[in-house]
Amino acid sequence: MKGRNIVLIGFMGCGKSTVGKNLADALSYEFRDTDAMIEEAYGNTISQMFAEDGEEYFRNAETELLRKLSGDAKGLVLATGGGMPMREENRTLLREIGTVVFLEAKIETILERLQNDTGRPLADGEDREKRLRPLYEKRLPVYREAADYILDTEGKSFYAIIEEIKTVAGNATKR
Ligand code: S3P
Repeated sequence: MKGRNIVLIGFMGCGKSTVGKNLADALSYEFRDTDAMIEEAYGNTISQMFAEDGEEYFRNAETELLRKLSGDAKGLVLATGGGMPMREENRTLLREIGTVVFLEAKIETILERLQNDTGRPLADGEDREKRLRPLYEKRLPVYREAADYILDTEGKSFYAIIEEIKTVAGNATKR
């Protein structure tokens, strides 16, 4: 029987999509990614949305999507964009949608993973570290606050992370 949806939150490069896809497979759940859903719905890439319409437009698209998903079926693993929990309304909606798991990783690990990455407007360009460190510091307490479960991913294999989520997702919550 399919249980509550599982919602993955965390900074860019923390592994939400990779973990999410494998977790969904392991549970026979459906995997969805909010970035991909927005790109599909708007027929535009996130980079283009930021460049052409501005970040606020993209943030509104994120909230709109969560509103739709909050009435959705069970059995989903949902990977969310790294900025999703920053709006209070989004945090409420995320909790309505499912059990919220924060994939915590160190900024050093994240910077390494994003080294050759493109397509993330907030991480692209010069001085990546200078821009991402303060953003990470600002977001960290918000991710923690938004989460039902905080999962420290450092030094853990994807397999171990997935096993941990499987164990906690059904019942253990902070609140
Ligand atoms: C963002 C993270 C991205 C994407 C957009 C903005 C952010 O998603 O939503 O580029 O504000 O951290 P990922 O966390 O999947 O990279």
